[in-house]
Amino acid sequence: MMIDFTNTLGTVTALFLLNYAFRRYMSSLARAPQPAGSNFWITRLGVVPPPHDGEDILSQFLIDVGQDRRQSPISVCFSLMGSPLVLVNTLKGIKDVLIDGQTKDKQLGPCVQRGDLIRRIQNLVFGGPSINNAVGEDWAWRRHVLLPSFQPKQLVPKLLPYVVEQSTEILALFNEHASQGTALEVDNVFTDLTMNVINYYLYGRRDLNFEMVGGRSNLKNEHLKLGLGFQSLEAWLPFGLNETKWAQRSYRPSRELLKDFIRDSLSHADPESVAALAMASGKYDNKHEALVNDMLSLTFAGYDTTAHTLSFCFSELARHPEIQQRVFEQVRQVLGPPPVTSITADKLAQLTLVTAVYRETLRKYPAVVFIPVHVNRDTPVDGQIVPAGAEIWCNIRGLQMNPDLFPNPDEFNIDRWLADGSNGFDDLASGGVSQHRFPDITFTLGQHACLGKNLAILELRTMIALTVNQFAMTLKPGNRIETKIILTTKPKNGVWVNFKGRDEVVSS
Ligand code: HEM
Repeated sequence: MMIDFTNTLGTVTALFLLNYAFRRYMSSLARAPQPAGSNFWITRLGVVPPPHDGEDILSQFLIDVGQDRRQSPISVCFSLMGSPLVLVNTLKGIKDVLIDGQTKDKQLGPCVQRGDLIRRIQNLVFGGPSINNAVGEDWAWRRHVLLPSFQPKQLVPKLLPYVVEQSTEILALFNEHASQGTALEVDNVFTDLTMNVINYYLYGRRDLNFEMVGGRSNLKNEHLKLGLGFQSLEAWLPFGLNETKWAQRSYRPSRELLKDFIRDSLSHADPESVAALAMASGKYDNKHEALVNDMLSLTFAGYDTTAHTLSFCFSELARHPEIQQRVFEQVRQVLGPPPVTSITADKLAQLTLVTAVYRETLRKYPAVVFIPVHVNRDTPVDGQIVPAGAEIWCNIRGLQMNPDLFPNPDEFNIDRWLADGSNGFDDLASGGVSQHRFPDITFTLGQHACLGKNLAILELRTMIALTVNQFAMTLKPGNRIETKIILTTKPKNGVWVNFKGRDEVVSS
């Protein structure tokens, strides 16, 4: 009996090693460079390390890879099963994957599609397909229906007045803190702001039944619990065990609560809202739950990405009075003194320094640190061929900290994004891309480009401009700005800001 067991174990181990050796050493990527870092989760399992309170290991790993010239254009980790995880570390490589790779060939389909793991887990956590996890035709019709509502032509006139109104309420809160001389944690405030903006836009109403989810401000907490689904180890269990109530206990109650809220909101949606227009398209006929899933995943994709980006913007402005002063002068010239009653898209577009602030923030703190894709068939990536079956991570975080593209990458320098050459940087030898012409990869590129980009930018521009026009900011002493990744990049210690009335500052 004992001998049988030992024999079986020996055979299984030998098969495992053979499989590993074959896949690892016979792979066309066998000679590709490997990341020096040895994080077990990433290099041996091909997954994101579980979140903890220590250092941001994932970001550091991606930065180390991006800054190491030997890992250009790609580097590869082989998992314990011998399957390759390919890190793409150049702009050309990322464009090849996201733009050319995702373009559909009529006969063969696209070379790459959404990453396998993220797709499966999103499907599980959201409880079905949505625009965020579907592929092929199931994704295409959703995108086709939802896209027009997120184009500036429709979005700006419908949403800008609401964003201005909400931002003005927040200015009143800043004012209270300015007069009391107390610091305010802004990440929490911006998360509520973004939830309000997205919900208002999706359903076109202010009077949604927030009591169903324990009040307006509790929406973000329920979404946060839903996010835990992405971290729960039970969600990875095989044989359908991950679909049991027990395995989903950490996030299922929040998912169902949020879906009830969405069903109720859909039943009252304004006819011109995103949700009502999507329903009226006829594509969701008999698929009411598909629309519920899409509304859930739109909110989920948008609320914390936008809010944390805004918080990081404020943290950098608060630490750079000289940048604040430049932004203030431009904003004051375009918008005039507060209270600002009318903002137009044209005026916002004139605020080039505000744009430079959010772009530099997204360079240093990209909300999504890598874009995962699955390779359907052999794909050219910056001169290399990545074989079918591999998983790819487009290394956004590492590329944007590459000193060959962004000299002194740790420095917050808004001049990188100004086209008039005042930054002193010319076209860079590596890649030949001036920094100001560097594409907006933080919202990803190609067919799956972020659907909510225009909404996010509208909120970022408005909130930054109105605040800088009225207040000078400093960071609360001792508040360390560090990142933590729970799906998206968050300010680990919050962002604590002291406000002082601008006109008070000017006259003093
Ligand atoms: C600063 C804010 C934001 C950033 C940096 C951001 C970034 C991204 C990125 C990188 C992706 C691609 C993810 C992947 O392929 O794995 C994405 C996709 C997406 N985003 Fe955003 N996002 C932001 C805000 C928003 C907002 C406000 C919404 C909606 C209200 C939204 C909705 C979506 C949707 C639906 C997709 C999937 C698009 C598709 O596959 O067709 N995002 N976003």
